[in-house]
Amino acid sequence: MKSMASDAAISIPAPARAALMRCVGISKFFGGVRALHRVSLDLFPGEIVALVGDNGAGKSTLVKILSGICQPDEGDLWFGEERPQRLTARQARKFGVETVYQHLSLCDNLGAAANVMLGQEPVRWQLGPLRILDEPRARTEAMRRIGEVGVVLEDLNAPVRRLSGGQRQAVAIARAMVNAHRLVMFDEPTAALGVKQTHATLELIRRVAQQGIAVVLISHNLDDVFAVSMRIVALRHGQVCLNVPTEKTSRATVVAAMTGVALEGRE
Ligand SMILES: Nc1ncnc2c1ncn2[C@@H]1O[C@H](COP(=O)(O)OP(=O)(O)OP(=O)(O)O)[C@@H](O)[C@H]1O
Ligand SMILES: [Mg+2]
Repeated sequence: MKSMASDAAISIPAPARAALMRCVGISKFFGGVRALHRVSLDLFPGEIVALVGDNGAGKSTLVKILSGICQPDEGDLWFGEERPQRLTARQARKFGVETVYQHLSLCDNLGAAANVMLGQEPVRWQLGPLRILDEPRARTEAMRRIGEVGVVLEDLNAPVRRLSGGQRQAVAIARAMVNAHRLVMFDEPTAALGVKQTHATLELIRRVAQQGIAVVLISHNLDDVFAVSMRIVALRHGQVCLNVPTEKTSRATVVAAMTGVALEGRE
């Protein structure tokens, strides 16, 4: 991977706090399509960054790169002091990076507890490929995790297909939190939810950040963005065109950045 550190030095002011994660000059092409162009972004503990942009702006591609699902063509990723040469999904998890998607990857026929601990069940005994899971510990751990995200579920073993959209989102967040200690990314987490459930999910996102984890929230809903984020980063045609504290900007400025339409009287 070619380092773009010199570009970053020009475009990014020295951070006052240590970033949990840094993207420096990330570019990505899909054939002839330039999905990302020299994207640099610092993510800090406890900060909720809203990543906005029109359809096709490159938001999900950036999430995939940060979670090791997709490899950048250019640029570097830093996790604290570490800079992996080629980040894999497995490595990203080890660095404490998790993603919660709009289309939740829950197992509908399993209960909330089983979903939260899926693939991460504590092992009581292991000999080569043979292992006996510690089910009581898995259940206690799942209950603790679900309690931490602040939802009350009557039956942790009832299939999650019976839960509401907001409750399912909470289970997905609880599952992400088993591993996440650095960064949680939410890709359109409220797109399919009603008003009340959206409100509850935003509250969960705040709680995640309060644990000192960096949060990236992708949303097309500017009400959500302004309600919950501390910083807004707008992408347009794969480039960062706005990176400002939420309190220092307005909806008009954000929309102008996303669409490329110049404002007449800038606030
Ligand atoms: N696997 C792929 N193969 C080819 N092109 C891709 C692939 N993934 C993304 N792209 C292209 O890269 C660009 C950025 O796509 P991306 O999904 O990151 O946008 P987005 O900002 O998440 O959009 P949306 O708001 O619609 O979800 C688009 O032009 C898209 O068509
Ligand atoms: Mg997307």
